[in-house]
Amino acid sequence: MMNTLYSDDDKTDEDDENSSKDTAAAALLGEGTYGKVYKGVLSNDQACAVKEVRLLYDKEFNEKKRHAFQPDSAHKLISFILAEIYVLKNLKHPNVIQFFGWKFSPQQLPIDQLCCINDVNDDDDDDKDEDTYEDFWNARIYLYFELMSCNLDDYIDEKGYKNINAKSIFTQICLGLEHVHSRGFFHRDLSCGNILVSKDTVKIADFGFANKYVPNKANDLYVTNLWYRAPEIFIGNSYYSQAVDIWALGCILHRLYTGLPFIQIEWDSTISALFAIFQKLGTPTKNSWLDFHSSYQIDPKIFPNWPLNSYCLVKDNQAVNDVLINHLLVCNPNKRDSIQSVLRRLTLF
Ligand SMILES: Nc1ncnc2c1ncn2[C@@H]1O[C@H](COP(=O)(O)OP(=O)(O)O)[C@@H](O)[C@H]1O
Ligand SMILES: [Mg+2]
Repeated sequence: MMNTLYSDDDKTDEDDENSSKDTAAAALLGEGTYGKVYKGVLSNDQACAVKEVRLLYDKEFNEKKRHAFQPDSAHKLISFILAEIYVLKNLKHPNVIQFFGWKFSPQQLPIDQLCCINDVNDDDDDDKDEDTYEDFWNARIYLYFELMSCNLDDYIDEKGYKNINAKSIFTQICLGLEHVHSRGFFHRDLSCGNILVSKDTVKIADFGFANKYVPNKANDLYVTNLWYRAPEIFIGNSYYSQAVDIWALGCILHRLYTGLPFIQIEWDSTISALFAIFQKLGTPTKNSWLDFHSSYQIDPKIFPNWPLNSYCLVKDNQAVNDVLINHLLVCNPNKRDSIQSVLRRLTLF
């Protein structure tokens, strides 16, 4: 069953360590908020991507991920993973990553033993009466997905934004998101790093923050990569809706047509993020977004009065610029498009 990837003959411990590091590096597809993603193989020999999620809140690992949500406890992490599995099992669409299944392992599996979903071998544990505390910290959950070529960030950087079919990519993301929203979920972490590409096909991935959208229910505020995070989350409104995904969609559209992120902030600061947003879109007035002026957490007076809609976001495409400013990157979430409306506007591009 175990397909050893290298020969063990004549090797010292140091060689073994280096060799397994090399194997891991060769199989590494990417690193995200929770852990690492490796290339693996299913029992039917089909190649797949394996996301390894550690249950331990790993301070050192998380400190490297400055732009990402940092789960502060293992309990929270587990509830997010269970939600991810639940949502993935309820989605099936050509523009949503295909989920093959998951397995639990009481300890980290060697890279050459990630192989198959149904391979978990519990025999090793027979002589143990009960799990120890340490077992919990070593435990991993492995999620198995269809294998894609790369994420959208790398794709744009490698090809150059002028050489990609931005309209086709954006349309596919919208179709995937329409499926997610129509099933009653929100993604809450849409970004170019979480969109995967293979040839001409684009799929929404990383449902680590996804959940059922329940109207009038308070939600976690530590969601979405900072650069893609909607202003209502920044001002502390936990009763946000699926409109947070439409804001992120706007940021993706901006990146597709300009090559650049909509905002780019280097540290987790609500005020700098709002400064960057308002500087480009204008500071919300009471008329344009009343909730911003009645927010307890932010004093609107600290921002200069940048005029609304005076800034051009996409210089060489008027139609995309208009849709972005008037319908997607709109600070007031109630005035932002639904995904169905975005799909109707695609004919304008
Ligand atoms: N199915 C896949 N095929 C190819 N690469 C993948 C796949 N899933 C993830 N990756 C790579 O790993 C990175 C992190 O994956 P992601 O699912 O976003 O994990 P996290 O929840 O840790 O952010 C992605 O940006 C991508 O580069
Ligand atoms: Mg991710």
